[in-house]
Amino acid sequence: MTHDPRREVREVLQSGTVGSRDFSNSTQPVAAACTAVVGLQWGDEGKGKIVDALAPTHDAVIRYNGGANAGHSVQVGGERYALHLVPSGILNPGKPAVIAGGVVVDPEALLKELDALSARGVDISGFVLSDRAHVVMPYHKDEDALRETMLKNAEGGEIGTTRRGIGPCYADKANRSSAIRVGDLIRPAVLRRKLVVIAPFKSAVLSAMGSGPRRYDPHQLAEQFERLGERLRPSITDTVYLLHDMVTNGSRLLFEGANATLLDVDHGTYPFVTASGCSVLGIPAGTGVPGVRIGDALGVMKAYSTRVGGGPFPTELQGDVAHRIRERGREYGTTTGRPRRVGWLDLVAVRYSAMINGVNALVVTLLDVLSGFEEIRVCTSYQTPSGETRRFLPDGDALKAVEPIYTTIAGFGEDLSTVRSERDLPPAARAYLALIEREVGVKVRYVGVGPDRQQTIALS
Ligand code: IMP
Repeated sequence: MTHDPRREVREVLQSGTVGSRDFSNSTQPVAAACTAVVGLQWGDEGKGKIVDALAPTHDAVIRYNGGANAGHSVQVGGERYALHLVPSGILNPGKPAVIAGGVVVDPEALLKELDALSARGVDISGFVLSDRAHVVMPYHKDEDALRETMLKNAEGGEIGTTRRGIGPCYADKANRSSAIRVGDLIRPAVLRRKLVVIAPFKSAVLSAMGSGPRRYDPHQLAEQFERLGERLRPSITDTVYLLHDMVTNGSRLLFEGANATLLDVDHGTYPFVTASGCSVLGIPAGTGVPGVRIGDALGVMKAYSTRVGGGPFPTELQGDVAHRIRERGREYGTTTGRPRRVGWLDLVAVRYSAMINGVNALVVTLLDVLSGFEEIRVCTSYQTPSGETRRFLPDGDALKAVEPIYTTIAGFGEDLSTVRSERDLPPAARAYLALIEREVGVKVRYVGVGPDRQQTIALS
């Protein structure tokens, strides 16, 4: 019988039996057929579009980190889809689109997104949700906002979070006793038991944070989230066994990173980061699939830099150049609508991220946005208080103290948005890509010259 991953997912969901396969052969080597797509900067690199392009040659697309803070835009046939929680692979009809256990899920936001996709005629039957993903509750979003308000007036400033409750939800995951997991939403007695303990605790803590009295009603929350759980029930399963069964059967998995390496809680520009493992290193923890299964790691980077929220940004630009890049690149947050900070390409940062992720290919997106500049600047090293370095300094305070050292190269006047093949790229654009390859030490495999599916060029 031919291998049909969609049928396999359906069977697992219907039977409720996972992991029933005979693993007696599991010591036999399985080809590392899985692919990872991760961001090498501060997010919004265009990962969604690349995932969408690669999905047809893979059997499932998996989100492993973050939550509704992410914003992936994919444009198909002139239609633009802004996705936050649902994997971008959902736009490939029937393809399993999996939210794994490392993700934090706001069930209301998720259902809204699924309903909106359905209403636009997108087939969402492949959607699968891990029973071990953590649930973002209303008090997480309240706490996120409260913390940011408190930090606003403090020295060092706010993190500039998306206020989607991401940090407080991951903190509760680590706290354990105040966490709710997706599996709890379909076990009403367990959900209520937990909320009876958590709600008064959250009421007390958030009231004490100075926003005035707050009272979270455990019974009202239990009813509300039980209803959401019922709607999600058909999609909820143990995704660890689901993914391992697929790998054992020779399926190719595509892991879709959310946020990006410089926002990674361990390796990013701490404390101006998000709360999850956003790099390739987050995949094993977030999915239960070991890293040895990943044979291809693609690092997605913009042809320039952007950042949303607070934190150091050595190559940040102000004025006309910034305005031009922001407008041409439509650099406004997919999740919050905030204007993004923009700057020249920082190859010290990208080189570091490529190293952390072990990427074996680069994807350079939004190259068309740089058309028309007479010259383009690229940061290749930093001046630090103790001398010049080609090494990145991920500590927030240390990074604040560096000055970028630039290499300047000729710009390209030609409009790139209509270019469809490598040979039609102007020589100056090719020189720009060659500089990136040389500095990072990794080949560029794809180049993006516009938002549509057709505007991605494969390089030889
Ligand atoms: P949080 O993830 O909402 O806690 O926000 C922490 C930091 O990460 C803030 O600076 C956000 O702007 C940033 N951030 C989180 N997710 C994304 C993303 O997908 N793209 C860009 N920035 C993000």
